[in-house]
Parts: sequence; C-alpha cells; structure tokens
Amino acid sequence: MPATTHKKLLSVLQGNQELVPPVWLMRQAGRYLPEYRELRAQKGGFLELAYDSDAATEITIQPIRRFGFDAAILFSDILVVPHAMGQELWFEAGEGPRLAPRLAQSELNGLTASPERLSPVLDTVRKVSAALPKETTFLGFAGSPWTVATYMVHGQGSKDQSEARRMAYAEPDRFHALIESIITTTVDYLSGQINAGVDAVQLFDSWAGSLSPAQFEKWVIAPNAEIVRRLKVLHPDVPIIGFPKGAGGKLAAYAEGTGVDALGLDETIDPHWANRELPNGLPVQGNLDPLVLISGGNDLIKAVENILSAFRNRPHIFNLGHGILPDTPIEHVEHLLSQIRKG
Ligand code: CP3
Repeated sequence: MPATTHKKLLSVLQGNQELVPPVWLMRQAGRYLPEYRELRAQKGGFLELAYDSDAATEITIQPIRRFGFDAAILFSDILVVPHAMGQELWFEAGEGPRLAPRLAQSELNGLTASPERLSPVLDTVRKVSAALPKETTFLGFAGSPWTVATYMVHGQGSKDQSEARRMAYAEPDRFHALIESIITTTVDYLSGQINAGVDAVQLFDSWAGSLSPAQFEKWVIAPNAEIVRRLKVLHPDVPIIGFPKGAGGKLAAYAEGTGVDALGLDETIDPHWANRELPNGLPVQGNLDPLVLISGGNDLIKAVENILSAFRNRPHIFNLGHGILPDTPIEHVEHLLSQIRKG
C-alpha cells in the first residue's frame, strides 16, 4: 500500500505495531483552539454547532489541519442519543448539559423517539469522510449505556451518579429496560456512522468507575458486550475502542468480557502495570494526564517517555487519559507531538 493511503491509526487498531505510535487527543476539537472559539462565538451554542453539519465538519477537521493528528473524531456529543430517544437536551452556559424530563420522573415509554435528530450528525460524517486526508483515520463514537443512563436519570451531570446507582439496585427491571433501549438506539446510531464513513468507533464509559464489581459486570461489561456483539454482526471488520474510565483493576475483565478491539486507559493507570496485566497483543490507547499537558516542561517530557517505553512492545495509540482541557497551551500540544514523532 502506498505510504500516503496507509491509515496508521486504523492499522494499530487492527493489531499491528508501529515504531512511532499514532496519536490523537480526546476532545481535540474544542475550546483550547482559537479557531473553534471563533466559530462558536459567531454561530451560538455548542448544540447548534453539533447539529449544523457544515460547522461540525469544519470543527472536526480544525485539529487535523493545525496538528496533523492521525485521527479525526466526529464533532458531536454522547448526549445526542438521549435527545434522539425523546428527552429534551440543552447546555446551560458555564454549567453543562441538561436533559428533561428526568427519567426518575417519567416512564421511558412516555418519551417519543426522535431519530431524525441524528440525521445532521450523519450528514457531518459523510462530509468529513469526503474531506479528510486519506491517511487520517476517522473515528465515530457514542456513550456507553451506563454513562448515558446516568445523565438521563439525573437530568444533568452528577458527582457520584447516586440516583442512577440507586435505581439500578431498587428497580433493576426498569433500569434494565432503560439500558436495553439505549443499546438499541446506540447500535443503530453507530451503524449509521459506519455506513456514512467512519473507520472505527469509540465507546465512552466515563462513569464506569462509580460501580461496585458486581454492578460493573451488569451495567458496564454486559451492555458494552451486547453493543460489540450486535455491531460485529453488521460490521465485522470495524474496530471498536472501549474506554471504561476509572475501571482500574477491572480493566482486564472488561477487555475480555466485552470483546472490544482496543482499550482506552485513563491517567490513573500505571502504563507498565497495564502492559503486564492486559492480554498480550491487545491494542491500548492513552494515557497522559491532561493536567501535565497543561503544566508542560520536564514533567511532561518524562510522563510521555514513561508511556512510550511501557507500550513499546504492543500496539499503542498515544492519547490523553481524558479530554484535553480548555486552558491547555497550544505550544504544549506542539511539543507533545514533536516528542512522540521524533521516534
Ligand atoms: O473528542 C472530541 O473532540 C469530539 C467531540 C466530543 C464532545 N463531547 C464535544 C463537546 C466528545 C467525544 C464528547 C464526549 C462526551 N460528552 C462525554 C464522554 C467523554 C468525557 O468527557 O467523559 C461526556 C460525559 C459528554 C457530556 C458533556 N458534553 C458534558 C458533561 C459537557 C459539558 C462539560 C464541558 O466539557 O464543557 C459537554 C459539552 C461539550 N461536548 C463540549 C464539547 C466540545 C464543550 C462545548 C462548548 O462549551 O463549546
């Protein structure tokens, strides 16, 4: 294959090793970029941008143009799925997402599904797919059922997901019906993204860390396994990255139980430990602390070196352990890339 059409990041997801790991950063399209802030100031709110396929296409490509990352990630949000399931969605300035009615107050079957809300996102996928450089891997994504359910039940972000955890114990049948219905919408949505042109998908389970081992098995491993199973029937060759943030010692069980093709690691994981504990040859992604990227200097250089050395002998995609923060200096991202790519 000629070098210019080789998608290096996709190749690592397929289990191949690269001398210099491919790199992208979670939340790479967003507020740390002046060109994003400018477009957002012109066009209004975040959701308006996410549902405007021309704006979302431009924002998806901005970090590729500036830094030449090995992957572009669709500019959207995990909460468009509950929106498509019939909850209202908006973002309170300076606070974060709101969903209404809260699931605790209304029966799931009281919602009217609005799948057409996802069609502008699929238009974005088609436009980005036509515009990206051929060597850039295009990633789609969705939230995992447990994480999406926490927002649906609380109606917003929450510190310890206690209402959702409470419902999962007190009303397991009702909670199971909610998870099942998120699974169905998510599989349709991810399959739509794949048909529209993404090369691989990531499942974000941002609140996987708040569950006990037995509940983790039930609400993290089982639903993600079901999504993987259904997607593999439809798209056997499309890699799936699982990112169970906060899973810690349950990572190997997650990888084996779900069947994901690659595992995202958060910054609390010691990369040398992960390399010893995780199945041989399983591709991993991560896991620089977003805060050391802000502080920079020698600590940053050492942290990057530690990750690179730990994963030298397995398929590895360099990334942060969580999303890049809005006050991250652009020059630190440039330093990071030159350190990784100097080989
Ligand atoms: O990674 C990317 O660049 C692609 C786009 C993307 C966004 N959100 C855009 C966004 C992705 C992959 C997400 C995932 C997401 N969204 C998660 C899972 C990953 C994680 O961070 O744990 C979660 C939990 C959400 C829900 C969400 N969206 C919250 C809690 C917030 C408010 C907090 C915040 O960071 O502002 C958002 C808003 C959001 N999603 C922004 C962006 C660029 C900020 C929008 C803005 O104010 O301009």
